[in-house]
Amino acid sequence: MLKNRLLLVFFGLLWCGLVCTNVTLAQDAAKDTTKQTQATDQGGGGTPAAGGLSADAAVVDQGKALFDGNCKQCHAINEQVVGPALKGITERRTLPWLVNFIKYPQKTIESGDPYAKALYDKYKQFMPNHDFLKDEEVNAILSYVVNGKHDVAQTTTTATTEGGGGEAKSQNSGILMGVIAGLVILLVLVLAVLTLLASVLSRYLAKEKQLDEIDQELVSQQFSLGKFVRSQAFLGTVTFIFVALVAKSVTDGALAIGVQQGYAPEQPIPFSHKLHAGAYEIDCKYCHTTVEKSKQASIPSANICMNCHNSIKTTSPNMQKIYAAIENDEPIQWVRVHNLPDLAYFNHAQHVKVGGLDCTNCHGDVKNMEVIQQQSILTMGWCIDCHRKTDVNAKGNAYYDKLLELHGTSSKKPLKVEDIGGLECGKCHY
Ligand code: HEC
Ligand code: HEC
Ligand code: HEC
Ligand code: HEC
Ligand code: HEC
Ligand code: HEC
Repeated sequence: MLKNRLLLVFFGLLWCGLVCTNVTLAQDAAKDTTKQTQATDQGGGGTPAAGGLSADAAVVDQGKALFDGNCKQCHAINEQVVGPALKGITERRTLPWLVNFIKYPQKTIESGDPYAKALYDKYKQFMPNHDFLKDEEVNAILSYVVNGKHDVAQTTTTATTEGGGGEAKSQNSGILMGVIAGLVILLVLVLAVLTLLASVLSRYLAKEKQLDEIDQELVSQQFSLGKFVRSQAFLGTVTFIFVALVAKSVTDGALAIGVQQGYAPEQPIPFSHKLHAGAYEIDCKYCHTTVEKSKQASIPSANICMNCHNSIKTTSPNMQKIYAAIENDEPIQWVRVHNLPDLAYFNHAQHVKVGGLDCTNCHGDVKNMEVIQQQSILTMGWCIDCHRKTDVNAKGNAYYDKLLELHGTSSKKPLKVEDIGGLECGKCHY
């Protein structure tokens, strides 16, 4: 009986220890997230309008529009993009300096301004002139930088989406912290009661004369750290935790094999989708001609580039590479970005033409990608997940008429891809 009680106390101690380390870890994490939220707050509504900048919503909105149109491709508020993060910019420089710099950066740098010179040495790139902006407009941009809301994604990359989640995360960890703190207090109380009980009991039993030897020994037993560390319960728990941690990192590692989400290799010619498909609105199918007809979405040959580039930018070194490819009759060696393993079968025509899906469903916001990037994770779970959720685009497709009729007799739910065999191994595996 007593032995059990003592064991319980041991477990309690152990548990407490574990929970306490958890708390410190959680605290560290929470500190990080609060730091993050504080950072966003500072960039956002936290500080009063610096140096005569308007906090008026209309001005801030105008500033946002101007920022998105002229600055966003190179700047974000809370992180470095091509140029520096603009958070706290009004604390680094005065307003007149900023207006002048934004309008004439190159001139400012060449005038020998030490701050501007140092910036240029760091970034090795001139920011374009913005002399077409009026002073009020530059002020509006700065109002947006100082007073706008920046906790939502600023740029297109995943990094910023994470930044956006900061607030929610810290809220969540706040609740979690509360729960953990409550548990710790409860455990300490339980521990205190148990220790009290154990000591009262053993004092009572010590007076008892008719105890046999083993019980006597148990009662007079003292707590010893050495014994505790060598105890089966302790060793068992430590081994269990160790094995669990190893198993987790092994499975995580194994699951990440072949997953290349976010892969964005450098290409032999810095071809920009943002410029061609975004700014100039060239249709994806103009270049990826086979996407509606075949399994593969073709990569355009240099001839397609020549439709325009025999007259656009002809002297650019990048164009020389295209001309060389045509002259030498050698294709441009683009680096492949998306690459399913050979065991999987994926067909573009089925998804784009028959399924009526948009490229953005799987490739993300290509029109804003300077460098093309693998947005989706491309695992089997990803394919299956979408097949479970997505309705078959069966309207006006005579091929599906019979199937729709049959499906309607047995189910009220719309026809999903999974209902037409989208989960069958043989459909996706050779
Ligand atoms: C083509 C990229 C590009 C664009 C577009 C651009 N910038 Fe910059 N910006 C930079 C670079 C690079 C620097 C670093 C200084 C340098 O090397 O010229 C910089 C520096 C700055 C700085 C000084 C930052 C500091 O930490 O002191 C400010 C302020 C600034 N930019 C504001 C703007 C505003 C406002 C716009 C839009 C109207 C804009 N920039 C558009 C690239 C750009
Ligand atoms: C002017 C021609 C052109 C247009 C228009 C164009 N692309 Fe591309 N695309 C290319 C070239 C060239 C490559 C290969 C170079 C690279 O990866 O950047 C490519 C690569 C890609 C890739 C990566 C292929 C791989 O290696 O896995 C995807 C995905 C893609 N494009 C999607 C789109 C989408 C979606 C659109 C329409 C919004 C589009 N493209 C419009 C020329 C074009
Ligand atoms: C429908 C017309 C069109 C097609 C097709 C086209 N481009 Fe462009 N491209 C443009 C325009 C317009 C510009 C912007 C020129 C400027 O900035 O003055 C441009 C700019 C570029 C630039 C940046 C300018 C430079 O000198 O670095 C590169 C690189 C480029 N194109 C590569 C390609 C490649 C590679 C292809 C073929 C896969 C291609 N383009 C197909 C219209 C086209
Ligand atoms: C249902 C998801 C999905 C849709 C919709 C989709 N793609 Fe893809 N795309 C993929 C997958 C998956 C791959 C990788 C295929 C492989 O490795 O065999 C890929 C690869 C590519 C490639 C590289 C060449 C190739 O075929 O492997 C290009 C280019 C491309 N897609 C362009 C497009 C364009 C343009 C559209 C829109 C017209 C589009 N995709 C729509 C999933 C999709
Ligand atoms: C964005 C949603 C989406 C994703 C992601 C997606 N699919 Fe599909 N898939 C569809 C739709 C919708 C159809 C139905 C097209 C039709 O009407 O035939 C389909 C049909 C198919 C079919 C034909 C099924 C049949 O029974 O006719 C195959 C095979 C297939 N997908 C393979 C894949 C593979 C492999 C992947 C992952 C690399 C994938 N799909 C990812 C939406 C998706
Ligand atoms: C909708 C399409 C689809 C269906 C249905 C599907 N798979 Fe897959 N499967 C894939 C894709 C895509 C991959 C490659 C994933 C990757 O590279 O991570 C894959 C990978 C695998 C792998 C290799 C392990 C891995 O993660 O790379 C095995 C094994 C496998 N599938 C078995 C099955 C079995 C068994 C079924 C039937 C119960 C099935 N698959 C049904 C698309 C599918």
